Amino acid sequence: MVAQEELIQKALEARKLAYTPYSHHKVGAALLTKDGKIFTGCNVENAGYTPSNCAERTAVFKAVSEGYREFTAIAIVGGFDGKPLPICAPCGVCRQVLREFCDPDTFQVILGTDNLNEKKVFKLGELLPLGFGPENLKGEK
Ligand code: THU
Repeated sequence: MVAQEELIQKALEARKLAYTPYSHHKVGAALLTKDGKIFTGCNVENAGYTPSNCAERTAVFKAVSEGYREFTAIAIVGGFDGKPLPICAPCGVCRQVLREFCDPDTFQVILGTDNLNEKKVFKLGELLPLGFGPENLKGEK
């Protein structure tokens, strides 16, 4: 059983690798698979701006591209260097990407900071109510 604090630590480590020459807003994510493996990700910006990728999606795409599709939690940390990190909530696109693979009723979204005692935890469904997911295209739910 991986503790929420361990996932936040991994996200903080991943955040150090963020490539953010334009926004300087650095984000790290740590995604936990059902069998206890952790995939990390950081945001990767681009001179063309729109090709930039968020930390959460980097983590999901790394995991899926290595054969993992079942997840139980993600920790996210983000903010600017030189000040305490605030709570950083995932953007709408990342919420939708998580919705593709994660159960909205059980998947935990852990929003951490650089203070391990300060965090907010949500279920994915709380952050993406009435979400559109794979089951909608199978005529289920
Ligand atoms: N960003 C993330 O990586 N994840 C989020 O949840 C919010 C925003 C990134 C995208 C961009 O590189 C920078 O933060 C500013 O939007």
